[in-house]
Amino acid sequence: MSYFITGTDTGVGKTLISCALLHGFAAQGKLVSGFKPVAAGCDENDHNEDALVLRAASTLQLGYGQVNPYCFPRAIAPHLAARHVGVRVEMRRILTSYEELAGQADEVIVEGAGGFLVPLNETLTFADMARELDIPVILVVGLRLGCINHALLSMAAIEGHQLECAGWVANVLDQEMPALQENIDTLRERIAAPLLGIVPHLKGADAKLATQYLDLNLLEREQTDE
Ligand SMILES: Nc1ncnc2c1ncn2[C@@H]1O[C@H](COP(=O)(O)OP(=O)(O)OP(=O)(O)O)[C@@H](O)[C@H]1O
Ligand SMILES: [Mg+2]
Repeated sequence: MSYFITGTDTGVGKTLISCALLHGFAAQGKLVSGFKPVAAGCDENDHNEDALVLRAASTLQLGYGQVNPYCFPRAIAPHLAARHVGVRVEMRRILTSYEELAGQADEVIVEGAGGFLVPLNETLTFADMARELDIPVILVVGLRLGCINHALLSMAAIEGHQLECAGWVANVLDQEMPALQENIDTLRERIAAPLLGIVPHLKGADAKLATQYLDLNLLEREQTDE
């Protein structure tokens, strides 16, 4: 089973939660692989930080390009970063890379870039990619002021694309957030998909520690229901 990890915005904890899921499934003895199909912003080796972290959290030994087929230098919207270097992101290439990983791994955790409707090229978005990959979505809600609107808009878009939302994660970005629990309760009342866990603000954003706050059984139950 694979999951597409999207978020309410950029910088809301998609990579942290993706790694936490990888560690959690690995602890169940599964072969796991991270996948960052399109990354914008890379180092002098043409490597992106998210992809490196996802690769390190994978139990499969993978080449960098297997985890991240598209990496663009500038940390801007991916389709613009691609255009700046004369590249068009092709869905076919993403699918081929994904299938290679899915053929080896029990679980592939696919991290998007930014939020759900971020463009891939002049016509397609990450939402279209999730449709093509035909995998359920997990929404990471970065808890800070404004997140209720962002979360509900994201859920509406996921449903609007006829995608299954396997669950959502409440990720406490701002530990001083006023009415934190009430915000979570408000979302719980309005989101049908299960809340997989509330991840507190963790010193050093430790992904292995974050795993302890997620209930992967809520996902497993969905898998066995199929
Ligand atoms: N629960 C948390 N506790 C502490 N720090 C966190 C937590 N969640 C996220 N962070 C920190 O917030 C920042 C953004 O997190 P992360 O990189 O996982 O977000 P992202 O959604 O993957 O961002 P991007 O859109 O750049 O891919 C990182 O510095 C991360 O360490
Ligand atoms: Mg990330």
